[in-house]
Amino acid sequence: MKRKVTISQVVTIAFVAVVMLSCNRVRRSPGRAYMPDMTYSRAYETYYTSTEQLKQKGINYDGTPVSGTIARGDMLFIYPFKNDSVGYAQSGTVHNPLVVDSINMTEAERLYLVNCGICHGPKLDGNGPLWKGGDGPYPVAPKNLMGDDMKVLPEGTMFHSVTYGKGQMGSYASQLNVKQRWEVIAYIKKMQNGAAAKPATVTTDSTATK
Ligand code: HEC
Repeated sequence: MKRKVTISQVVTIAFVAVVMLSCNRVRRSPGRAYMPDMTYSRAYETYYTSTEQLKQKGINYDGTPVSGTIARGDMLFIYPFKNDSVGYAQSGTVHNPLVVDSINMTEAERLYLVNCGICHGPKLDGNGPLWKGGDGPYPVAPKNLMGDDMKVLPEGTMFHSVTYGKGQMGSYASQLNVKQRWEVIAYIKKMQNGAAAKPATVTTDSTATK
């Protein structure tokens, strides 16, 4: 028995074949990108090791704030020195812009214990849980903030080191804003001076009458 294949049957079979073949193909390319900005993410790539790598991809974003700008709600204070040895040497000329007497020391102490106590210790003696007299997991001894060298360290230099980091200590600029950094430093200075909280540098007025 001869079978007659009609035109419409051929068309149907061809159509089904095309559909099946096209379903079989895994598309790996999005085709022509009409608006590349929207097709490819310009987001910050977390695991890139350097902004240079991002620049090579044509991404100029490096995650740091534009220099000279201040975050909304932050204090109007621009630290003038760069993260280099010259900046470190000059940092001592900078003074705490806050009125120290009006600082909430309970809050300053809280900030210290949250951010610094783990290394520098709740007693500021450089013996926090991460160091534990050398038995802790931290490889280098944190500074004893009650030591004589730290008592004479100017508050501006403390700000410099806390802002940019020093040696094995990282920067705290992203954890504490400018005001909070100065509050923590005021707390350290107060503790260093003992119960009689005196300003760090006392200038004697020779004309004062007793
Ligand atoms: C992970 C441990 C660690 C934490 C947390 C830490 N520090 Fe340090 N800190 C160190 C080490 C280590 C040094 C010694 C750095 C050096 O001189 O090489 C140091 C040094 C310092 C110095 C002396 C800087 C100088 O110029 O000599 C100050 C001041 C200081 N830290 C303040 C702070 C404050 C304030 C915080 C909290 C905001 C803090 N640290 C948090 C480990 C830490």
